[in-house]
Amino acid sequence: RQNERESLLIVLNFAKTFFQETMRTTDEGKSIGLSYFRERGFTNPTIDAFELGYTLDQWDALLKEGQRRGYSRDLLEKAGLILIKDGTAGGEKKVFDRFRGRVMFPIHNVSGRVIAFGARILKVDKNQPKYLNSPETTVYHKSQVLYGIFQAKQAIRQEDVCYLTEGYTDVISLHQAGIKNVVASSGTSLTTEQIRLISRFTPNVTILYDGDAAGIKAALRGLDMVLEEGLNLKLLLLPDGEDPDSYVHKVGADAFKTYIREHSQDFIDFKASQWLTEAGDNPLKRAEGISDVCASITRIPDPLKRQTLSQRVAQVFHVSEQSVISEINRLLRKQQ
Ligand code: CTP
Ligand code: MN
Ligand code: MN
Ligand code: MN
Ligand code: MN
Repeated sequence: RQNERESLLIVLNFAKTFFQETMRTTDEGKSIGLSYFRERGFTNPTIDAFELGYTLDQWDALLKEGQRRGYSRDLLEKAGLILIKDGTAGGEKKVFDRFRGRVMFPIHNVSGRVIAFGARILKVDKNQPKYLNSPETTVYHKSQVLYGIFQAKQAIRQEDVCYLTEGYTDVISLHQAGIKNVVASSGTSLTTEQIRLISRFTPNVTILYDGDAAGIKAALRGLDMVLEEGLNLKLLLLPDGEDPDSYVHKVGADAFKTYIREHSQDFIDFKASQWLTEAGDNPLKRAEGISDVCASITRIPDPLKRQTLSQRVAQVFHVSEQSVISEINRLLRKQQ
């Protein structure tokens, strides 16, 4: 078991280095892969820090080099690097690279070892997914991983807050802008394991999701999970149509930091502003909003914190604190 893990980590490291070399030394790698990262504004130190690479637009570039180095098909497949498909009508099996003609984002575990890859196509079209990711393997459990945690952990401790973004390039661009306490949930909805991973380094999380409908939805989903784990939570949305990557390139590092400072909301204000825009003067909608905020409060394990927050809800929605407390208690009873 331990042996298999180690073998997988070794072959994944080989693949990472191969993708880096491909980008640095081949014509295709330089003119397509490296140029792509350049156009996105990534500098060499950034490319190195995240060990970015490129995979040739061929069926078996990695497979061939891997086998030449003595890695078996079986191991390459278990690492999620190649696919083995049965041939039609008893014909020969088809063996080929999973990742072809894409820029490669290695995914590291907390100690910096490569456990998987995210692979982006260069030009988005509707026939292929924009990102192709490694499958679950013995060493890669998507729900337990945060992209960028290795590069971010020291800064998370230092700043005593972790910024949680949606995507690979959000992490990389903020890191390059000097904001290094950033990780990404990589498009999946946030899991308890991911939140516990953050809590090893800080009790403070700021959710920094894309300013679109999907981002709001994901933030609302993530919110309760963070509260359940007893962490302190702030949220902010980027302006509509922007993500942290695009926005930091647009306005620069200082303005981005100012934006975070001025727009971070605690979860009560965040939820209230969503509800109050929608509800207007509609009293039923407002009541629904209050109940929804109270439902999030019931997730918080600490009763003392719950109590303090009920005062805030009362202020924000202009209702009596007593009515908020009884709603929280009603919801708590219902959960038992
Ligand atoms: N994602 C994925 N598969 C997809 C689309 C997205 O795994 N087909 C994940 C990736 O981790 C991606 C994240 O979800 O980084 C956020 O998606 P999106 O906002 O669409 O991508 P960006 O990170 O903004 O990517 P880019 O800037 O390269 O377009
Ligand atoms: Mn396992
Ligand atoms: Mn998005
Ligand atoms: Mn995005
Ligand atoms: Mn983006």
